[in-house]
Amino acid sequence: MLQEEADTVLFSGDLTTTSLDSEFREAADAFSPLYEKWGDNLIVIPGNHDRYTPKSVKAKLYEKYFPRAFAGSGDRVFSKTLRDDVCVIGFDSSKPFMLRSNGDFTLKLKEELDAEFEKSKQLHKHIILMGHFPYSYPSDVPSKFHHKLLGEESLAELISRHNPIAYLHGHKHVRWCLRDAVTPETLCINAGPSGMSSSNPDKHAGWMIFDVTESGSIDQLIKVHLSKDGEPIRETVDLN
Ligand SMILES: [Fe+2]
Repeated sequence: MLQEEADTVLFSGDLTTTSLDSEFREAADAFSPLYEKWGDNLIVIPGNHDRYTPKSVKAKLYEKYFPRAFAGSGDRVFSKTLRDDVCVIGFDSSKPFMLRSNGDFTLKLKEELDAEFEKSKQLHKHIILMGHFPYSYPSDVPSKFHHKLLGEESLAELISRHNPIAYLHGHKHVRWCLRDAVTPETLCINAGPSGMSSSNPDKHAGWMIFDVTESGSIDQLIKVHLSKDGEPIRETVDLN
């Protein structure tokens, strides 16, 4: 990852497994060289595993170990300019469910996100949205109730009105990109796992790379996964 020459790195959550202090410390150590290279252009949001227990939320472990990341508690929406014509809007829909892995896209969060879109549209031609949970799944990847974003239809409805050029997320440990019939203007990109091991490249540790053209198209989308020796292996995704 460190070898990539990206302008911005976006991490869509799940730094830890069960929000343990030791896991956050390990994640902070792993992210330290990334912060050194990208500074404020490394943008991190929390996933459900980073808000796994009420105790960890109360102790603000995510905020403690990732002070430069988007905290999300209180005001759960943020935006950042990436280029004069492009910005990213991020939101945090994670909260402790204990033994379940849901997110909660509440009406209040939707209102905050709506307002942020209205504001950002005045300043930027193209908007990228980032959350932790998918709202749309490939046909061969089933959505399970205990794992989904509660209110995912409501998120899809919001996206269908604002048409961000992309929705970046994670949560499901499979790298994919798709367009949903409800939100055809928005390319949904699941970065897949960053640290898991699998014989299936899409389920093995890696990331996604893309460019945004001046007209707002997502260009040159590349799936990357790591070889056994830790070397990045790239596969261009056909967007047609
Ligand atoms: Fe997750």
